[in-house]
Amino acid sequence: MQTLKRTLNDHIAQELEAITGLASVNANVITSSKREFGDYQANGVMALAKQLGRNPRELGAELIARLESGKLPLVERYELAGPGFINIHLSSEALSQRANEILASPELLIASTDTPLTIVVDYSSPNLAKEMHVGHLRGTIIGDCISRVLERQGHRVIRQNHVGDWGTQFGMLITFMRESDASKDVALADLETFYRAAKEKFDSDPEFATRSREAVVKLQGGDEETLNAWRSFIDTSLTHCQAVYDKLNVTLTLGDLKPESFYNPELHSVVERLESAGLLSESEGARCVFLDEFKGKDDKPLPVIIQKSDGGYLYATTDLAAIDYRSHALNADRSLYVVDARQSLHFQQVFAVAAAAGFSSPSISLEHISYGTMMGSDGKPFKTRSGDTVKLVELLDEAVTRAFALVTEKNPGLDEDERHEIATAVGIASVKYSDLSKNRTSDYVFDWSTMLSFEGNTAPYLMYAYARIKSLLAKQIDAELQGRLLLNPTAFNEPEEKLLLVKALQLAETIEAVGQDCFPNTLSNYLYELAGVFMRFYEACPIQGAAPEIRSHRLALCLLAAEALKQGLELLGINTLERM
Ligand code: ARG
Repeated sequence: MQTLKRTLNDHIAQELEAITGLASVNANVITSSKREFGDYQANGVMALAKQLGRNPRELGAELIARLESGKLPLVERYELAGPGFINIHLSSEALSQRANEILASPELLIASTDTPLTIVVDYSSPNLAKEMHVGHLRGTIIGDCISRVLERQGHRVIRQNHVGDWGTQFGMLITFMRESDASKDVALADLETFYRAAKEKFDSDPEFATRSREAVVKLQGGDEETLNAWRSFIDTSLTHCQAVYDKLNVTLTLGDLKPESFYNPELHSVVERLESAGLLSESEGARCVFLDEFKGKDDKPLPVIIQKSDGGYLYATTDLAAIDYRSHALNADRSLYVVDARQSLHFQQVFAVAAAAGFSSPSISLEHISYGTMMGSDGKPFKTRSGDTVKLVELLDEAVTRAFALVTEKNPGLDEDERHEIATAVGIASVKYSDLSKNRTSDYVFDWSTMLSFEGNTAPYLMYAYARIKSLLAKQIDAELQGRLLLNPTAFNEPEEKLLLVKALQLAETIEAVGQDCFPNTLSNYLYELAGVFMRFYEACPIQGAAPEIRSHRLALCLLAAEALKQGLELLGINTLERM
């Protein structure tokens, strides 16, 4: 089932092409800004008329004549407006038919793509030397939302958790682990504290530092015993990550891991390939690539460092190997990197070097899906009062605790287990939603009170809206109506009915946009608007006491809205509750 917008856009573009003889015309169909302009508007006529030196209203009239003669069943009427806008009013009949098909098979609410691609999504990707902290929140949940959306569209999504499991820090950590009196599990129970203690020792005890460096050499040399210690450390650290993913309802599993160390065997050949492509030069003992397009201050060329003077490889080297793998072994059409905006230069450089050296195939689209920083109320990156980084697990636990207090206050009568269940869902959802509802490219201020509010564009508001519709349906749908709820094209009485219908069907095109541009806030904004449209419908269109055919028509609309809310929230990684 093609989305409404695409159906209109493709059809109108075709007709414009037929009229003008041009090859690819942009009909520029958008959702109408005002109700009186219809459900959609085609705004492409003006630009086209300008390009052809024609009168836009005349071209518009010609277009409408053609559109009317081979009319899409979806459209009730077209209307020429202003300097050459085409207002499009959709047919309640066709919309109802579409909705009824969806009510019978709810998965049709979101269109499958005609062109399934292989899409790599690199996300979360924490450094395993430390525990996941709030800085990992955004990448983890934005990446997860994008993965869910793309998968739901029918793309083949390959998640890649590019964890940092290699580098000199691990020599220090395994040495500290081996020399600790406590058992491994006890020592590593709090990775953050463990890391800090190890670092302190490293900085203050030169012999320990030497033993740590020796461990690195052994590790790189493949010494079995050292490797075992390293693996054991990594395993524990991964267990910490997995616990966070499970709490967050994030779809990453151990199977999605492609750690930095996976690429170690390739790094030597990365250097050789750059060398034979004539891209390497020596700078201060290190081997670097300089590309003309990257200049720093004073117009000095910026290096991409590939190999240090001591032979060690760098972050960029591994990323080049990873691009080669994703491009040529995984055959990805798109490779998305959901990573902090502060790494933007790194990705620009690595993508450019990869293209120059043929690590990326010409057809792959490498995309840095960047995001801003989560700030505290002081406007600085979110920290504890004492200035330490905040562990992600602790933040999530706090969210649940706060949600529990809230649920208890709202609903003291519920039994405790149920309040716990609701609090867990609402607390985590609030943290996720408040993040996903912001434009990912900006920084945002983390604020408990707004995210946990039942008013405004928040998870509690939407989850509650959903639960309310469900309880309404449960109350109103009797045995006679069960399984027979249908929209009825002759039962539209109030404008709010059609507005809700169109809005619910627009989930499909919203998802299409998110799959393309990877902005989850497009989806959350849509859901917030949908809930608002529903509330207006609910006020304007009484259900109880309405004539039977109107009642079932309106209940069918409720069902469709609930379905859109549920599927939309699920793609944000938020599970709905039937009762709240
Ligand atoms: N581990 C890196 C960090 O914590 C993020 C890795 C992102 N992915 C990549 N392919 N570079 O900053």
